[in-house]
Amino acid sequence: MARRESHLGLDAANMFSDAVGPEHGLRQDELDGLAGRIERSTAAIAEMRGEAVGFMELPGDEGLVETVRRKAQELRSHYKNFVVLGAGGSALGNITIHTALQHPYHNLLPAGHPARRGAPRIFVVDNLDPDWLIGLLDVLSGELPETAFNVISKSGSTAATMSQFLHVRELLQRTKGCDPVRQIILTTDPRPEESLLRRISRRDGYYALPIPPNVGGRFSVLSAVGLLSAAVGGLDIAGMLGGASAMEERCRSARVRENPAALYACLLYLQCRRGKPISVLMPYSHFLRGLADWYCQLWAESLGKRDGLSEKDVFTGPTPVASVGTTDEHSMMQLYQDGPFDKVITFVEVQEGREPLPICEGQAEPELRYLTGRTFQDLFSAELEATRRAMRHKHRPNCTIRIPRVDEEALGELFMFYEYAVAYSGRLYEVNAYDQPGVELAKNYTYGLMGREGYEPPPP
Ligand code: PA5
Repeated sequence: MARRESHLGLDAANMFSDAVGPEHGLRQDELDGLAGRIERSTAAIAEMRGEAVGFMELPGDEGLVETVRRKAQELRSHYKNFVVLGAGGSALGNITIHTALQHPYHNLLPAGHPARRGAPRIFVVDNLDPDWLIGLLDVLSGELPETAFNVISKSGSTAATMSQFLHVRELLQRTKGCDPVRQIILTTDPRPEESLLRRISRRDGYYALPIPPNVGGRFSVLSAVGLLSAAVGGLDIAGMLGGASAMEERCRSARVRENPAALYACLLYLQCRRGKPISVLMPYSHFLRGLADWYCQLWAESLGKRDGLSEKDVFTGPTPVASVGTTDEHSMMQLYQDGPFDKVITFVEVQEGREPLPICEGQAEPELRYLTGRTFQDLFSAELEATRRAMRHKHRPNCTIRIPRVDEEALGELFMFYEYAVAYSGRLYEVNAYDQPGVELAKNYTYGLMGREGYEPPPP
């Protein structure tokens, strides 16, 4: 795989007291105080690497890239529609990728339009709400034989995803011209003893792709979970992995100021300890709104824990919030600027838009003349700068992640940056960032309520 450079920058100046004042800003010595913990965390993460934890090794799996490309090519040439069925970490990465990198109206463009890149329409269903599935099936009606389904579940047993699998399998069995074994791809844990989906794929001959056992759902976007739909969509998966790999290298440094993920984790952790447990991610890009949702899941499931690594009942964890600029300037921003001092904001600034779009070059009313001869990008940047300065003047700590543009490499970098940041945060909060006992309990209670053998319903 071609070597790439990392271009992601983290501007943390507005987190410090020089910018937002001593009451709400951090001191450099507070950050220095965490240096030893970051050194130890780097060593601990390195020790788990490839053993208990595998997300950081995903960019190096060149064999997988070839397998995924081949399968994607076949799917692209046979199908008009590609549907991902999954929950949580099995779906959010896919939503993030397509929201970020496809044409914003991909599914509405004519099939032959160059911006479709020869890809089928792509749908990601991450909620079992039956009305949504019914709605999707309305859209697909008449095209079922030309529709492929990618059922994704690490555990191979989540009720939401399995129910959708059962429904779609039966529908395809009943529909003339359809064949579930040909049209359904299963992405799951490769160990048959762990995953029912895997056992089904072996028994019935479904094509299956692996989610490595040491990669949890919310860390799996750079595995076959996200790569297959990306490749089906005509995206550059090698570029995405290349970006991730370049970031991965930076995130291994034991020096906090040289390691953007460790630095970010420290800043948010210190602010949380100073009474700012709410962490807002606000990309100034409509295309990165999926990233903000993906981040919320990564942060909430990894860090929101009852038990700590060495102590029970710590009930800890920051609260992630997703926002998007400029949309939320007209909604959440009022609260962020004037509400309680319990938040930190991370902006994502994209330095280059897709193409410059002039607002208007000719006449305009005198009150609107300031907009003539300018581009939408000028205004977009001005709005971000205005918001950032307003936040600073109001003593609201904030930082900015800068990426050159929204492309495969940058997205790969962002995924790896946040996955490492949550790994460092787990060490700082002293929790296991890789389990999700609360999620499992709710799944087990659901099984119990639905009468699955071996599971008890929750107490009334
Ligand atoms: O990150 C996680 O582990 C979870 O959010 C899972 O992705 C989610 O619960 C779906 O689980 P599974 O992929 O096993 O169906």
